[in-house]
Amino acid sequence: MGAKPQITIVGAGNLAGALAVSLHRAGYAIEQIIARSGGAPLRRARSLARNVGSRAVVSSRASIESEVVWFCVPDSQIASAARSIATATNWKAKVAIHSSGALRSDALVALRARGAEVASAHPLMTFVPGSRPLLAGVPFVIEGDKHAVRAAKRIVKNLRGDPFSVQKKDKAAYHAWATFASPLLTTLLATAERVASAAGVQPRAARRRMLPIVAQTIANYAALGASVSFSGPFVRGDAQTIRIHLQALRRVPAAREAYVALARAALTYLPARNRKALEKILKG
Ligand SMILES: NC(=O)c1ccc[n+]([C@@H]2O[C@H](COP(=O)([O-])OP(=O)(O)OC[C@H]3O[C@@H](n4cnc5c(N)ncnc54)[C@H](OP(=O)(O)O)[C@@H]3O)[C@@H](O)[C@H]2O)c1
Repeated sequence: MGAKPQITIVGAGNLAGALAVSLHRAGYAIEQIIARSGGAPLRRARSLARNVGSRAVVSSRASIESEVVWFCVPDSQIASAARSIATATNWKAKVAIHSSGALRSDALVALRARGAEVASAHPLMTFVPGSRPLLAGVPFVIEGDKHAVRAAKRIVKNLRGDPFSVQKKDKAAYHAWATFASPLLTTLLATAERVASAAGVQPRAARRRMLPIVAQTIANYAALGASVSFSGPFVRGDAQTIRIHLQALRRVPAAREAYVALARAALTYLPARNRKALEKILKG
């Protein structure tokens, strides 16, 4: 395989957009973006293809020359997307990669059966509409067949990403970690907005007003670690404060449940005074 092999991307969603732009900037030729059908999916693929000097095709018409095919489709679609282009090329000496954090590289078994080497390469980063972060500095978990892993690592390094390994058997736990780091962190902030409403502060204002404390908390965590960054009633052991929080949160039941679950985690993993009393209040 050449130093910068040609790459075909399957899908044109959030990850595909960021990946295609980073690959293009790093000097990779993107042979084509494959859409599952005509209409809106093909239009989305065309729009991405235009940005990166490529072309868009539907899977039923795809004919692949690239040495690397990178699947950027929802986890539930990886196996069927692989099957849909199984006859689009001779897979011997080709590498197929998917980007699910939870699924193993084996999700591409249909292509392995046709001679491809397969890998999974999951960027530990969040991609949403309206935000296309570059992949420089982004950690990527990579596992799979030997040559496919080597090819995926080389690509990630050329994107100035940071490849690392997690065993296949640990991928589900790995992805649960990733889910805490972004989607559940966002959930926590959305929940905080609801609690702000209970205090008469509307969600938009809550977002603006809580940004300084959120940003400082992340900065403290980065510089000092979790234990030193942990302030508030748990580390001080203020039982009465926690009791009145729980009373106030009766008006926001889902937020109350989240508070109790996180408070229990705090008492398990973080410094706290008056631990026994706090545990008792959380049970009540
Ligand atoms: N978003 C993230 O933050 C993130 C981070 C790390 C890893 N990932 C991984 O990246 C992968 C893609 O996630 P995403 O967030 O980019 O999803 P997404 O935004 O929903 O995009 C999925 C894309 O796949 C296309 N697609 C669906 N089924 C297809 C098929 N059978 N054949 C061809 N294309 C098909 C969709 O096209 P149409 O809907 O237009 O048909 C859409 O363009 C997943 O494995 C995910 O776990 C995502």
